Amino acid sequence: MSDDLRAELASVAASLRAYLEVQEDTGAWGIPKATKVSAAANVHVVTAPSVPSPSSAAIARPAGAVATHRPLDVVAAEVSSCEKCALSRTRKNTVFARGNPVAKICFIGEAPGADEDEQGLPFVGKAGQLLDKMIAAMGLSPESDVYICNIIKCRPPGNRTPLPEEISACVPYLHEQLESVDPKVIVAMGNTAISTLLGTSIGVTKLRGQWKLYKARTLVMPTYHPSYLVREGPQQQQNKREAWEDLQKVMKELGLSKKT
Ligand code: URA
Repeated sequence: MSDDLRAELASVAASLRAYLEVQEDTGAWGIPKATKVSAAANVHVVTAPSVPSPSSAAIARPAGAVATHRPLDVVAAEVSSCEKCALSRTRKNTVFARGNPVAKICFIGEAPGADEDEQGLPFVGKAGQLLDKMIAAMGLSPESDVYICNIIKCRPPGNRTPLPEEISACVPYLHEQLESVDPKVIVAMGNTAISTLLGTSIGVTKLRGQWKLYKARTLVMPTYHPSYLVREGPQQQQNKREAWEDLQKVMKELGLSKKT
């Protein structure tokens, strides 16, 4: 079987599982316990096909859905003393989130870096400054209009990419955060966020700008990671332009007007 076909089948299986999970959430029926759906990230993540023209109706919670998640402060408290993976031995601080816990937009990155590890807050270094500027350019406040977090909550040494087992251990916290915040749109920044949320191995350069679904319910806009955008290089002006186009799609979907 070709790699493309295998990826396609994994994506279809993940979509079906996501649909069944929504059914289960609403009490419609139970689903079997098997969980590994992402060959790429080796974590329990779900995906759905592209969404050509998203609409509010498509992203509404099913009627009668019962919230099963824990309050965010309870999850944050557990994260602060988490020892589920080896990163707990090298971190200075856990990094849970910043912003508004009932925001309509959630920005998700990869993992804390050195500044974030130091301060215990996500996106407070150079990449975070760019992210805040991009959010402000959308006419939004990074403090009160969006929720910002990462796939994993502890800094990998040397800022390496998180290992699959680190993501598997940590991602249930993110799922709980997303259950609780229940954003209308998730902006998945960079390959780790994209592969984990969507269960795909397709990279950001191919996926960016295309609407996807998380758990068959919440719109996801894949885009470049701000750390990538702050690097010097001949492509960077073009990459920044593309990232801005992606954010404009988010603004359009949410009925936000462009800042002049
Ligand atoms: N990069 C990330 O992915 N997250 C942060 O919080 C900071 C840098």
